[in-house]
Amino acid sequence: MSTLSRLGFSDTAAFALETAREAAVLVMSILPESSTEKQVRLKTTTDLVTRADHEAEQLIAARIRARFPDHGLLGEEGTSTDGAGPCWVVDPVDGTANFAHGIPWFAVSVALEDRGILQCGVIAVPPLGEYFVAERGRGAYLLGGGAAPVKLAVSETADLGQALVATGLPREPERSRHVPTIGPLILRSLEVRIMGAAAIHLAYLAAGRLDAFWEPGLQPWDVAAGVLMVEEAGGRVSDWAGLPLRSLRTEMLASNGPLHPAMVQVLAGHAAASP
Ligand code: IPD
Ligand code: CA
Ligand code: CA
Repeated sequence: MSTLSRLGFSDTAAFALETAREAAVLVMSILPESSTEKQVRLKTTTDLVTRADHEAEQLIAARIRARFPDHGLLGEEGTSTDGAGPCWVVDPVDGTANFAHGIPWFAVSVALEDRGILQCGVIAVPPLGEYFVAERGRGAYLLGGGAAPVKLAVSETADLGQALVATGLPREPERSRHVPTIGPLILRSLEVRIMGAAAIHLAYLAAGRLDAFWEPGLQPWDVAAGVLMVEEAGGRVSDWAGLPLRSLRTEMLASNGPLHPAMVQVLAGHAAASP
């Protein structure tokens, strides 16, 4: 019996973990290469992509098509198949700027949603051998390194002054809109981290390593697995006004729960106007 089935997780979640593991091995084999071999190039003026992003997405897409031919797929690097029912949301390398620069802090993120409800998610952090896994109603766990699975739970920090919070740097036009939110949180929190991978920020929040995370301009592949992970670990996810998320293509505030009101107080004035 596998570790995940002992925890009550489904075969689908076990498939997501196995697929993310395979992609992690592929991505790690490319990490030591030079930037020429990695084929580092600019997708837009500020957005890098490498051959690892494409090859890992192809690998994950092939595994999904073979196992679930009727499922949809939404991948950051363009793999997209429609389906009215279940859809896999894949970021083959989250933290590409780190990866391209040889910094070993990036993730493979694989999630399954069904009619807008996240079902399971895996965030693999290959350089650290850490695998964060969540399934709706079954909780979230950290697997890795041969140690026993650790059940994830968000922190209990309630004072923003004691909180380690994280954010990211989205592309324009959201980047300019984001800048005025960072100063106040540097002044009011314990410290701010900008480590370069939204998926890992969310996994770390679920694990109680970070206390809150906020960023605008996120895409479904950045956050699908992470949102479920935070919720299954007891945390809270909303927009910057504190309202439920209407989409995963959005600005996001995720926290341990007790910190949510203080974070909303800082961010609400910067929230995107409602349509
Ligand atoms: C990016 C990272 C980064 C976040 C950006 C994302 P990518 O994803 O998650 O931390 O600030 O908004 O686009 O391009 O490395 O997959
Ligand atoms: Ca990403
Ligand atoms: Ca990516």
